[in-house]
Amino acid sequence: MHAIVIDEPGGPEALVWREVPDPRPGPGEVLIDVVASAVNRADLLQRQGFYPPPSGAPPYPGLECSGVVAEVGADVEGFRPGDRVCALLAGGGYAQRVAVPWQQVMRVPEGVDPVEAAGLPEVACTVWSNVFMTARLRRGETLLVHGGASGIGTFAVQLAKAFGSHVVVTAGSAERIARCLELGADEGVNYREEDFSEKVRADVILDIIGGKYLARNVRALKTGGRLVVIGMQGGTKGELDLGMLLVKRASVHGTTLRSRPVDEKGVIVRGVVGDVWPLFDAGALRPVVHARVPMSEAAEAHRIVESGEHVGKVLLLT
Ligand SMILES: NC(=O)c1ccc[n+]([C@@H]2O[C@H](COP(=O)([O-])OP(=O)(O)OC[C@H]3O[C@@H](n4cnc5c(N)ncnc54)[C@H](OP(=O)(O)O)[C@@H]3O)[C@@H](O)[C@H]2O)c1
Repeated sequence: MHAIVIDEPGGPEALVWREVPDPRPGPGEVLIDVVASAVNRADLLQRQGFYPPPSGAPPYPGLECSGVVAEVGADVEGFRPGDRVCALLAGGGYAQRVAVPWQQVMRVPEGVDPVEAAGLPEVACTVWSNVFMTARLRRGETLLVHGGASGIGTFAVQLAKAFGSHVVVTAGSAERIARCLELGADEGVNYREEDFSEKVRADVILDIIGGKYLARNVRALKTGGRLVVIGMQGGTKGELDLGMLLVKRASVHGTTLRSRPVDEKGVIVRGVVGDVWPLFDAGALRPVVHARVPMSEAAEAHRIVESGEHVGKVLLLT
């Protein structure tokens, strides 16, 4: 098969489409003929040498894919050759084939284009596990989504609206806020012009900025509020006002999805298939796709994501 190989960390040109050995499905694994994968911001870090794959994961980038089951290993439950699936991966999505634990494999939601399904596992599992399982967002509560026009953000907006929350986003331009409002967001703050912590009070904040926003995020929490930090685009360190946290009886969480054990990922995946996929089946959610790029030209896809112009996901087609 062919895969995107990174010999030397670097710019987008470090991504090279080359022939590599085919993976074999081990016990408990499903071998998928990949139809498409999608770019995640973490892939940019892996390309630059800052986010190595966890041990046992394929060396190629790619945290999600869609495709067709080619083969199943021993002890696989619920899948057989020919099934149309998508999957959450610890790596290896930028390839024509990938072997993945069956617990991380999902059916493609009804009515979703099998190619566009490639961009769903990472955002769905991240938003479901953080906003709903960890922060327990409830109907009628306010969710603040930083980077509302991102892959993660566009999904968080739709899912929280579908569950009856009030959704506020931050984004870097009026145009990008308008795209979030089209997806159902109730309000937007242009972070280049205004300080969200002066305007917003939220029950739950989904944060991708980290250190630079920590103090402002805690200020923007309501009493009983929950801040979940999933990204560190604004650095790893910030000042936490514990006095404010105590008075608000608030909490701060931090999580990553990629390094979780397979069983934990399996719990998240089952939650997504059980509680999120029916919303796609009913037409209440839709994939937000910015561009489709041939996988062999993954460098171009990374340039698009690095430019910051995209809204939603950039897909890679085999
Ligand atoms: N912990 C986990 O398990 C996990 C899993 C998945 C993703 N993540 C993280 O989630 C983040 C989003 O991932 P993605 O793949 O969806 O990325 P993406 O599509 O490339 O989006 C990045 C977003 O960051 C926004 N942004 C940049 N500076 C900002 C600021 N000062 N305030 C608010 N927003 C700002 C950009 O908004 P504008 O373009 O509007 O400026 C852009 O929409 C990344 O940091 C990623 O590492 C974490």
